[in-house]
Amino acid sequence: MLRVGVLVSGGGTNLQAIFDGIDNGVIRGARVEVVISNNAGAYALERAKAHGVDALCISPKEYESRDLFHQALLARLDEYKLDLIVLAGFLVTIPAEMIRRYPNRIINIHPSLLPSFCGVGYYGLKVHEGALRRGVKVTGATVHFVDEGVDSGPILLQKAVEVKPGDTPKLLQQRVMEEAEWVILPKAIDMIANGEILLG
Ligand code: GAR
Repeated sequence: MLRVGVLVSGGGTNLQAIFDGIDNGVIRGARVEVVISNNAGAYALERAKAHGVDALCISPKEYESRDLFHQALLARLDEYKLDLIVLAGFLVTIPAEMIRRYPNRIINIHPSLLPSFCGVGYYGLKVHEGALRRGVKVTGATVHFVDEGVDSGPILLQKAVEVKPGDTPKLLQQRVMEEAEWVILPKAIDMIANGEILLG
């Protein structure tokens, strides 16, 4: 059984897609051991509790320095002896030490077709604002391994989504989630759990 930890910051619809994937057999051989948020008010924590999964908040606000926050986060993750860490809308920069400790064992979902609309400042709705501003006709989502850069690690899965006339950032965000993110994130976890994507 692949031991998975999920890091979240907000609503947690991607977390929900993981839970649903495990429940309906789209994800085989994986279990979510813990969900950690940097934000105590994240609805994702409620989703985890409703699923009987440990739901923890580790907020940088509670630590005197970024370094102490990072140490606390790493210590917690290590306790759960995880095989895979999934960033599902986790909007905090990952400490370099964590990437060294979990090489090719951290994956992220990004709401565009990398390498478009990524890097510093491109997260959440801002990604879709950028896509609409540029006038692309196709966007999508990407699952990739996390390395020390921003959105720069090896790409695992991508799925394209059509941009439609009259789209707003929110409409586009919803379509990208429904048609791409909630499909490829569970699929990537299943492929990892079943040896179809090899971990480092
Ligand atoms: C998702 O769209 C995810 O792709 C994005 O944040 C949203 C979280 O939604 N992540 C990034 O932008 C990372 N750069 P959720 O909490 O409902 O899953």
